[in-house]
Amino acid sequence: MKKLLFILTLLIVLTGYYACTGPTTKANQEKPKDRMEEGKELFSSTCTLCHGVDGTLGLNSAKNLATSTLSKAEKINIITHGKNAMAAYGNELSPEEIEILADYIETLKQK
Ligand code: HEC
Repeated sequence: MKKLLFILTLLIVLTGYYACTGPTTKANQEKPKDRMEEGKELFSSTCTLCHGVDGTLGLNSAKNLATSTLSKAEKINIITHGKNAMAAYGNELSPEEIEILADYIETLKQK
């Protein structure tokens, strides 16, 4: 019985030690950046100037994105080619970044 207890203690100590120094560090476990996380970053660095963080600011006569009724394709079209006071981003952003932005804007919708 005593021997079993000793082995058990040893096992606990050893697994504890492994958990601290094991090969899986945090850096290796980091998953690739979330799509919407990327959309948020793109949006806050490029679009908040006129649209605001939540899309409702409406500076420089920008449309409220939270109440926009445009389809995703129409949004992509406006972001790529611009409209009136809004600049075109087709040269600045890749088609994939623009699609990510269109998806991100959907999440700003007011329910
Ligand atoms: C210089 C200010 C400005 C910036 C920066 C800007 N926009 Fe706009 N945006 C506007 C204006 C103004 C309109 C309204 C255009 C119109 O219909 O006359 C608009 C309209 C839109 C629309 C259409 C909404 C609707 O329902 O008609 C979308 C989508 C949009 N912007 C997305 C974006 C995204 C994404 C970015 C960042 C890449 C961005 N905008 C950056 C000014 C801006």
